[in-house]
Amino acid sequence: MYTVPKLEDYSPAALDKAAAELLAALDAEAAAVADAKAFEDFRNRWMARKNGILTQINDTWLKSAPGPAKRDAGQKVNQLKAAVEERINAAQNKASASGSNAKFAAETVDISLPGVRRPLGVKHPVLRVLDELVDVFVKMGYSVAEGPEVESDYYNFEALNFPPNHPARDTQDTLFIAGQEQRQQRDRLLLRTHTSPVQIRSMERLRPPVRVICPGKVFRNDAPDATHSPMFHQIEGLCVDTNITFGDLKGTLEHAMHSLFGSSVKTSFRPSFFPFTEPSVEVSISCPFCGGKGCRPCKQSGWIELLGAGMVDPNVYGFVDYDAQKYSGFAFGMGIERLAMMKYDVDDIQQFFYGDMRFLEQFA
Ligand code: PHE
Repeated sequence: MYTVPKLEDYSPAALDKAAAELLAALDAEAAAVADAKAFEDFRNRWMARKNGILTQINDTWLKSAPGPAKRDAGQKVNQLKAAVEERINAAQNKASASGSNAKFAAETVDISLPGVRRPLGVKHPVLRVLDELVDVFVKMGYSVAEGPEVESDYYNFEALNFPPNHPARDTQDTLFIAGQEQRQQRDRLLLRTHTSPVQIRSMERLRPPVRVICPGKVFRNDAPDATHSPMFHQIEGLCVDTNITFGDLKGTLEHAMHSLFGSSVKTSFRPSFFPFTEPSVEVSISCPFCGGKGCRPCKQSGWIELLGAGMVDPNVYGFVDYDAQKYSGFAFGMGIERLAMMKYDVDDIQQFFYGDMRFLEQFA
């Protein structure tokens, strides 16, 4: 390893030779620096204030130089200092590049690569039909109301004029929440079987005139098959004001059906029964596929049954403190999947719930 020699001869040739030997040693050691630790040792060996090689040449070459040689020796030592500093800087860059910077260098991101493209989703066909219907009614001045899917016996049945233990309750296969026996019947929880409880909640909250549309999920204890699902969607409508007649109900529903299926469809109203409407009707439309001649979707009848409706039963007003002498109104409710199946010619309601991309992508 290089050590600083004492100089006997201060002639320019001797100084040059000593300097050349030092520089050769410096270059060789600088080239050997490979990491941060080696750099530290290298820098200390050459630059340490106490006994570093620069300090040594300062002491042994310059300070002990005889008077006439001081000038030449001083110049040489200054050149060597500059050379040492330059090699130290270069060695430092090399050492840190081989350390943490090298790791980052290996991790650089190729910004020219294409990103991970996530496919844009589309609105589910059931929600599409639902939103389309909501739009039709919003344009007629209805506002949207929602209610809980876990509902009390009171809102799902009692206030809708289904008395406790009345056989009309059997028409809806209800899913009850377990462990409610301790509660009074009216407070017992169940999964709402229809969106009609939102009628009651809306009338409790608002005074006439009332015009609300209530979309949402409903639940029935039905085994799934091509036309049944234990969960499906309904949309409910309620209009209460002074002088609302059955003619208003007919006109409103006819307008809604024309908006959905085109102005050539006809509507038909047949008597039916619901505890909370009187009179009650089943509403059908002429088959939009065959125009009424008879085809598979309409089971050759020319008509498709779409919804239940009627004039709000005066008993219902008693539950929400409306004056049945002063106000009248109508209500209707329809299943959305049914509509969506017709509109998009889907023959199995389960398709809406499988989440199969091959089905859903067709609505993109
Ligand atoms: N709630 C009834 C059903 O689910 C439909 C309906 C709503 C009937 C409003 C009349 C008025 O079958």
